[in-house]
Amino acid sequence: MLREAKQLVKRALGGIVRNVRAPGDVLTPAHWGMTVTSQGHLAFEGVDLASLREAWGSPLHVVLAERLRQNVSEFLAVNEHGRTRGEVYYSYKSNPVPGVLRFVHDLGIGAEVISEYELWLALKLGMPPDRIVFNGPAKSDAAVRDAVARDILLLNVNHREEIAVVASVARELGKRPRIGVRAATSSGWMGQFGHSISTGDAFAALKEVHESGVLELTAIHTHVGGMVRTKHQVQGYVGEILALADRVRNELGVELAILDFGGSLATPSVTGISNLDRKLATAFQAALPEPVPEATLSIREYVRCVVEQVEAHYATKARPCPRIFFEPGRALTGNTQLLITSVLSLKVGEPKPGWAILDAGINLAESVRSEFHQLFPVTRMHEPRSHRYRLAGPICSPGDVLSWSACLPALAAGDALAIMDAGAYFVPFATSFSFPQPAIVMLDRADVRLLRRAERFEDMVAFDEMG
Ligand SMILES: Cc1ncc(COP(=O)(O)O)c(C=O)c1O
Repeated sequence: MLREAKQLVKRALGGIVRNVRAPGDVLTPAHWGMTVTSQGHLAFEGVDLASLREAWGSPLHVVLAERLRQNVSEFLAVNEHGRTRGEVYYSYKSNPVPGVLRFVHDLGIGAEVISEYELWLALKLGMPPDRIVFNGPAKSDAAVRDAVARDILLLNVNHREEIAVVASVARELGKRPRIGVRAATSSGWMGQFGHSISTGDAFAALKEVHESGVLELTAIHTHVGGMVRTKHQVQGYVGEILALADRVRNELGVELAILDFGGSLATPSVTGISNLDRKLATAFQAALPEPVPEATLSIREYVRCVVEQVEAHYATKARPCPRIFFEPGRALTGNTQLLITSVLSLKVGEPKPGWAILDAGINLAESVRSEFHQLFPVTRMHEPRSHRYRLAGPICSPGDVLSWSACLPALAAGDALAIMDAGAYFVPFATSFSFPQPAIVMLDRADVRLLRRAERFEDMVAFDEMG
């Protein structure tokens, strides 16, 4: 009796909540420069995405080269004096696909690496050492040695204990590496990352580098973490870094050559899912609110905002302006890639709504657990989004749910869906949990090129003794 009453209330409430939380209609394919064909198929540069799935299989990552070019050119936009406003070092870990990395390098983007492997990869891809920035809290001795021996552009120490390691390698190799210190601003990540500015620890680390005698104190490095969207946020942490740079100049007599502002600019069409939204979605299948892209600074605005604040600061003090570094991950590649997945089967009936079981879940799209990503029915774009589905991935875990409340046309087995903004933190977090990894292709001016073939079963056991 009580159970039935509860269900009645839930049903009634659900109707209201779903009405209030109707699916949005801001993030249309046009936002990504995509079109819809007369048959209702999603297309980019005239190429039907369904045809890509036919040719390359499912799931499938598709890199949209033209969008990548656009993002790069916004980051490298020049000012009225014809100068690039900042220097850009792509955060390798956010999408470590060699074909993508090479593509952005060819357009003038350097490498930001956090491991010996990534350093190796950057060199392998032809990056000269003076276009590589080395970060992270986990630099092995071998990695430090390699970086110092090769005279990379900048090594940012994460914590004070690293200073002695780098200094000892420098002494041994007779080198004077350029060193920055990671500083945590009041609004950013802290934990294992860097030293706090407000406690004075960041300054102490900078002083220690300066006094080492063998290290060239060159930079302050920061990476706020999370998703930065507004001018107000940017001005806050940039101001703290500038104040720290002033203190270095006043107390140590060093004019820093580089200010490195890390990454963190959000992808405009991606947003975090709040606890309330998650609860409304799971309990009532309410649609997640769509982000408003205009609420996030464009790449160009963001770069301008940082550069102008830094330049104005140094101009007032009549001091030379340092080089300004950015290390974007998600802002550069997030919205330049999509993941095509197929409906393997439907599980309908009670409780409603039904489930669509997909060939990609959190094994390939881990970020979707905590972030809103737009989803398009690749071949049913002309049909009304009249159905709600729970979307499950393939890996036999109750946690493998991509959406509790996807509003889509009536689906059938074999349908394709496109998960948007898959160009950051999808590929690196993917696992081969029972299913091999998908291929990655690049769609460039209507041409399709394979960047990474799909994993084969043999690859999945390639390191095992199969005896
Ligand atoms: C030091 C550093 N730089 C850049 C990035 C890229 O961040 P995002 O993808 O948010 O731009 C990260 C990501 O964690 C990072 O740790």
